[in-house]
Amino acid sequence: MSTTKLLYFQDAYQKSATAKVLEVVRDGTQTALILDQTIFYAQGGGQPADWGSIMGEKSAFSVTHVSYNGGAVLHKGTLSGEIEAGEEVTLEINWRRRYQHMQQHTAGHIIDQAVKNVVLGAQSVDGNHGIGKQLFVEFSTPLHTDLIPQIQSAIDHIRAANLPITSEMVSYEQLIERQIKLPFDLPQNKELRIVQIGEYPPMPDGGTQLLSTGEAWPIMVTDIVEKDGKWRVIHTVAEEVSSVAKNQTKIEEASSVQPSDQLNALLQNIEHMKAEFLKDNAQPEKLQSKYLGKKGVFNQLAQTLKDIQPQEKKLAGQYINELKTSLETAIAAAQTQHVATQAWVDLTVPGKKPAVGHMHPVSQAMEEITHIFEQIGFTRVRYPEVDWDHYVFEALNMPPNHPARDEWETFFVDVPANQAFGKVVLTTHTSNGQVREMERLHSQPPMRMINISRCYRRQQDATHTQMFHQFEGLVVDKGITIQHLKGTLNYFAEQFYGPGTKSRIRPFHFQFTEPSFEVDFSCHICQGTGQVTHDGETTKCRFCKSGWHEVGGAGMVHPNVLKAGGIDPEKYTGFAFGWGIERTYTLKEGLNIDDIRLLYSGDLRFLEQF
Ligand code: DAH
Repeated sequence: MSTTKLLYFQDAYQKSATAKVLEVVRDGTQTALILDQTIFYAQGGGQPADWGSIMGEKSAFSVTHVSYNGGAVLHKGTLSGEIEAGEEVTLEINWRRRYQHMQQHTAGHIIDQAVKNVVLGAQSVDGNHGIGKQLFVEFSTPLHTDLIPQIQSAIDHIRAANLPITSEMVSYEQLIERQIKLPFDLPQNKELRIVQIGEYPPMPDGGTQLLSTGEAWPIMVTDIVEKDGKWRVIHTVAEEVSSVAKNQTKIEEASSVQPSDQLNALLQNIEHMKAEFLKDNAQPEKLQSKYLGKKGVFNQLAQTLKDIQPQEKKLAGQYINELKTSLETAIAAAQTQHVATQAWVDLTVPGKKPAVGHMHPVSQAMEEITHIFEQIGFTRVRYPEVDWDHYVFEALNMPPNHPARDEWETFFVDVPANQAFGKVVLTTHTSNGQVREMERLHSQPPMRMINISRCYRRQQDATHTQMFHQFEGLVVDKGITIQHLKGTLNYFAEQFYGPGTKSRIRPFHFQFTEPSFEVDFSCHICQGTGQVTHDGETTKCRFCKSGWHEVGGAGMVHPNVLKAGGIDPEKYTGFAFGWGIERTYTLKEGLNIDDIRLLYSGDLRFLEQF
């Protein structure tokens, strides 16, 4: 059979043409003409056939139906007069009818795109652009009437954007290569026509389309209905009364007002992102952060808005907003679907408890120590960990170059020294809090402080860390004696290590106390005996070896220290003590920690045991 060249593919606005009659097919009373070329649209793709007239030299043929048959277009209708193959004829289509169909068909494509903008990944499968009574685009993706307002606004945006509508012929291979989605099977052995709105993905299409979306008449989505597991977006297309006259100018404008390269690039990027999103098989829970997270792809794209020319900013903004809504909808849908597609869920199963951490053992110790001393009227204070030499040494009766300073492996901070306060050091002990506390209370006893802080020394081995913690007690009042110190030590020993634990003081030397002592606590494993009896067999306590543990220093506050704090040593006396938290704590737990550094390793296997 002959083939007919489809002129409407080149120019959908051609209203008349000439052609040569190739065949006159007679079937009873019906006549069909096959021409070498035609402007008559053969019904298909949801678009109805054109009507019109074909005039021969001695005939008039009124076309009432046009169909496509294996390459030939059959013009069917009623013939008056005589017509012969080979004859030249003049064709004219009913333009009003055709233009209405073009409007309806383009509306279908705009709706198709609008829905895809709102519901990412929506797949259209069919459409009716005028053959039936109802205009619709049909989707295999579930759509809900709630979406109508969003779809409507997406449609209006596309119309307002006045995007060019272009078409081209491509081979099936090119179609695949360009990843153009086929909503249905298409013949593979011939060229296919694709239509593209702006930079949106092209669609296979055989209809007649408007030149731009700005030419489209108002489209109204009236309903979304489900039919046989598909969802139809039902709509109307109506000419604006005032637009009839404007139409012509709009058509002309369409070719001159083209989106800029930047806007096109943005649209392309949007499409690219959507395509990526659809390919993305990341778990739905990751989609949110990947696409809509602070540093997500959407925000990156939104950044490019600044490159858009001012006159297109509004439009570009609308596209970006549309994209955001569609991503949000798609992610929400993906998440619900994800939940829905999961295997049967037993809602009665007790929930998974999040792992609950606990305070670091050293922090636990600090809390406990603070609490014990608060019970007897001490106030917890905090003093600087980076302090002047004055508070760390000098005010504690250790003038510069005094040999007693050698005991402390001090870290000096590399900043200029202060004339009055000397160098800056990382505190070697919490004793720096003593004179500071006296100053805080304006040298007015009574004072009972407990100062807990980090300390730093140039030491690092299995039993020492460069950073560790101390707690420092200071009591100053009238009539304070060693008995008060001893009573306080015993109180703490019982509270912290358990009833029956005793304290012991041994003479020692510190510059800031006189007399000075080292403080021991009785071992709570062997009750201070140094021996344990197990199964009738008595052996040496392996934990203490002697019945006692040394924890730190104490003493009666040296008069020079009181003076440094503005307190008259003739009127007031005081005691002080300072111990390492780590040591005090590990003793309590009965721990022989081989390597004290474990406490700061952050190793949960270790820390979780406390
Ligand atoms: N500051 C001393 C040190 O770090 C410990 C100390 C000893 C503190 C005796 C005191 C004290 O308050 O009276 O080794």
